Amino acid sequence: MRAAVFEAVGRSVEVDEVEIRGPRNGEVLVRVAACGVCHSDLSVVDGSFPSPLPVVLGHEAAGVVEEVGAGVTTVAPGDHVVLAPLPACGTCYFCTRGQPTLCARFSASLFTSLLPDGTSPLSRGEEVVYRGLGTAAWAEGAIMPEVAVVKIDTDVPLDVACVLGCAVQTGVGAVLNTARVEEGASVLVLGAGGIGIAVTQGARLAAASRIVVVDPVAQRRDAALRFGATDVLDPGADNPVAAAFAFTGGIGMDYVFEAAGQAALIEQGIMAARPGGTIVCVGAPALDQGISIPGVVGFTASEKRLVGCLLGSVHTQRDVPRLLALWRQGRLDLEGMITHRLGLAETEQGLDLLRRREGIRTVLTV
Ligand SMILES: NC(=O)c1ccc[n+]([C@@H]2O[C@H](COP(=O)([O-])OP(=O)(O)OC[C@H]3O[C@@H](n4cnc5c(N)ncnc54)[C@H](O)[C@@H]3O)[C@@H](O)[C@H]2O)c1
Ligand SMILES: [Zn+2]
Ligand SMILES: [Zn+2]
Repeated sequence: MRAAVFEAVGRSVEVDEVEIRGPRNGEVLVRVAACGVCHSDLSVVDGSFPSPLPVVLGHEAAGVVEEVGAGVTTVAPGDHVVLAPLPACGTCYFCTRGQPTLCARFSASLFTSLLPDGTSPLSRGEEVVYRGLGTAAWAEGAIMPEVAVVKIDTDVPLDVACVLGCAVQTGVGAVLNTARVEEGASVLVLGAGGIGIAVTQGARLAAASRIVVVDPVAQRRDAALRFGATDVLDPGADNPVAAAFAFTGGIGMDYVFEAAGQAALIEQGIMAARPGGTIVCVGAPALDQGISIPGVVGFTASEKRLVGCLLGSVHTQRDVPRLLALWRQGRLDLEGMITHRLGLAETEQGLDLLRRREGIRTVLTV
C-alpha cells in the first residue's frame, strides 16, 4: 500500500510503498479515508518526540473496515469507523478505575510505536516500519485492535469524522472528562490550534460563562471567537495572567488549559488560576522541557490542582458516539475546524501549514 513514511529528522515525509499484513485474531484492517495532521505528529518529525524509525504517523483518522480477523464480532467489512489511537481494554487496573487512557494493555502503543504484542504490522522488505502514535494512518490501510475502531453511521462524512480521532476528543474531553468544568465557570485557554479550538468548543458545551482564549496568531484568535470564546488575547500585546485577574474581579480563572505545548505556559496557567482552580496540561511540550513552581508553598496553600490530560481522558467507545450526537444537534462544529484538505502525497505541505500556524486543521484525504 501507499503510506507517508518519515525516515529521519531533517528529511521530509514522503509517500512510499509499504507492506501491511492482514488482520490477526481480534484485529481489523481499515481502509483509511481521511486523516488529520496534528502537532503531535509534527513533534515527532521535528525531533521533539524521539521515535523509532522509519515510522508512519497520522493518528486522527476515519475509514471503512476492509477485513476482520478471527474472533471479531462488533464490526464487519463495510462498516464506517473512527480510529482510536488509544483504545481501552475495559478490564485492567486503570480501565476498571475509570481511567481508560491509562489502559495497561493499550497505552504503551502510543509511545512504543508497536502493537501491544510488541510487533508492527508494517514492513518494507526485511525492514520493520513502525506504527506511529498508536495508529499509523497516513496510509491507505491501518491494522487496529477491534476495540480501537468505533462504528459510526454511514451518513457521517469520513473526512469530517476523522477530527474526532484526536483534536476533538482531546480538547472537548479535557473540558468534560478531565476537568469536568461546571456551568458558569471561567475558562482560560492558552493556544488556539486544533486542540485549543476543541477545548474552546468543550467550554462552550459545558456552558462556561467566560471563555478567554490566548494565541499570538490573529487568524486563530478570530477562529476562537467563532467557536465560543467570549474574549481573545494576543500574548504579545496583553499579559494573560494580568488579564485573567482583570476578567474575574481579581480572583483568577476557575480553569486553565495549556493547549500550545509549551512548558512555560503551564507556569503561566498556574499563576492565572484562582485559589482552588484547576490547571489542565493538554499540550505536549518537547521531552526536554520542564516546569518550576517558585514559592511552591503558595501553590500548596492556595489548593490549586495541576492535572495531566492524555487524549482528553477519553473513553473512545463512549465518547465518539456522544460527540457525533452533539455534532448532529449543531452544538459541536467539526466541519469548521477543517481549513485545509490535501492528498497523502502532500503530507509534508500539511506539516508546513502547522509549522506556519495557518488555518486550524488540515485533513489528508487518502
Ligand atoms: N494531551 C494530548 O493527548 C494531546 C493530544 C493532541 C495534541 N496534543 C498537543 O497539544 C498541543 C497543541 O496541538 P495543536 O495540534 O493544536 O497544535 P498547533 O500548533 O495547531 O497549536 C498550538 C497553538 O499555540 C499557539 N501559541 C504559541 N505560543 C503561544 C503563547 N505564548 N500563548 C498562547 N498560545 C500560543 C500557537 O500560535 C498555535 O496556534 C501540541 O503540543 C500537541 O502535541 C496533546
Ligand atoms: Zn493528536
Ligand atoms: Zn485497560
